[in-house]
This record gives sequence, C-alpha cells and structure tokens, in this order.
Amino acid sequence: MSWFTKTFSSTIGRKLLVAITGLFLCSFLVVHLIGNLQLFSADEGVAFNAYTYFMTHNPVIRAMEIVLLLGFAFHIYEAVVITRRNQSARSVKYAVNRPEQNSNWSSRNMGLLGTVIFVFLLVHLYNFYFKLKFGEVSLDAAGNKNLYVIAVESFSHWWYVALYVISMIALAFHLIHGFQSAFQTLGLSHKKYTPAIKAFGYFFSIVVCAGFAAMPLYFFFLY
Ligand code: HEM
Repeated sequence: MSWFTKTFSSTIGRKLLVAITGLFLCSFLVVHLIGNLQLFSADEGVAFNAYTYFMTHNPVIRAMEIVLLLGFAFHIYEAVVITRRNQSARSVKYAVNRPEQNSNWSSRNMGLLGTVIFVFLLVHLYNFYFKLKFGEVSLDAAGNKNLYVIAVESFSHWWYVALYVISMIALAFHLIHGFQSAFQTLGLSHKKYTPAIKAFGYFFSIVVCAGFAAMPLYFFFLY
C-alpha cells in the first residue's frame, strides 16, 4: 500500500480530506454568492443570464467544475465513512453520557445537517444547473438562456422558498461547526488565534447563508 493510500485511509487522513475539501467548498460558496448577486440587478435578468452563460461556457470554469464535483464527492464520502466508524467504534454505550454538556448541537448533528444540504443540492442542481445545461429554456433579449425567469417562477412558490431558507439555516449550522473544526484538524489550534477563527467562522457562515436565503425571500415578498 502506498503512503498516499495509507495516509488517506486512516481516520486522521480522512479527517484531513474532509477539512481541506470543506474549506475549498467554502471558497466556492463565496464565488457562487457573489455571482448570484446579479439577481438583484434591476435589469430583468440580463446581467444574471450573461453571468450564467459565462459560467457554463468559460473553459477555465468548466475545468473547475470537475474539481468542484470531486470536492463534493470526497467531502461527503469521507465524512460518511468517519461517522460510521465513530458509531461502530463504540458498540457499548458510556454509563454516564451527557453529550449536551461536552459538545454543541451542530457538532453532534453534522451528518443530519449534511443530509439536508445534500437533498437541497439535488433539487437545486436539477432546477438550475441541469435546466441551464440540458433543458429547453427560453432566450432573453441578448440571446442567453433565460434562467432569471426560472428563478422568478421557482421563488414564487412558498414551499420552494421554505426549502431554500430551511436549507440555508442547516448550511449555516454546518459551516459554523465545520469552519473551526477544519482549522483544528489542520493543527491550527492556538489559544490566541482559535477564538478569532471561531468568530470569523460565525461571521462567514451567517453572512454567506443569509445572502443565499435573501434571494428566494426577495423574489417571494418584494418582486
Ligand atoms: C438562492 C441561492 C442560489 C441561487 C439563486 C443559485 C443559482 C445557481 C445557478 C444559476 C447555477 C447554474 C449556473 C452556475 O453554475 O453558476 C447554480 C449552480 C450550482 N449551485 Fe447554486 N445557487 C444558490 C445557492 C447555492 C448553494 C447554497 C449551494 C451549495 C450549498 C449551491 C451549489 C451549486 C452548485 C454545486 C452548482 C453547480 C456547479 C457549478 O457549475 O457552478 N448553490 N446555482
């Protein structure tokens, strides 16, 4: 077995992979949020449609899509393996076990939060990504696929807005724990810097998730 396979099949190696891919996915979220802010341009979707055209036709972005897919795949797979190992490692329960005193709710429910985000992703990719790439979508005045009308139509249904808002709450809790946990796994634990990393993690998670949640809420209530 090569050192690479050995390292990444050990629990600490798997944790490292979850941490690295998790931080990479955080950087994707920032880029994705900034791009989607075009939805708020008062131009009936011209800027947003031009942006989505760019995202699906630029060769660098298309290559990054493969890296992104691998990032998601490794992050989910390794996290599932670690969770299952942790569950089977202790078949006999502790006599005294007060998890709520030793850890916070998000850290104990990362699997549940991850599952909500995964379901959200499937619905989201089907509605936006697959329609953009393979679907029959009308064209706007500039000749780009009019994904803006799909956003307006989707976000006019309360249940669709609820799915997005609930998923963004789950994503916020997932990120709040995940962000600081990733730094800990990478060995960046210091009594001076850890509180700052934690505070930044809170700020990052809330701003990013509130930004995404603002989009469906804007179209439902204000458009
Ligand atoms: C209201 C919020 C959101 C809107 C309006 C939105 C919109 C879009 C659109 C238009 C696309 C296709 C064009 C493109 O690739 O950029 C897309 C793709 C994608 N979205 Fe979102 N998105 C939102 C939130 C999210 C969130 C929170 C996540 C992750 C948890 C996410 C993950 C993805 C992924 C993985 C893709 C395909 C990858 C890519 O090629 O960029 N999106 N989204």
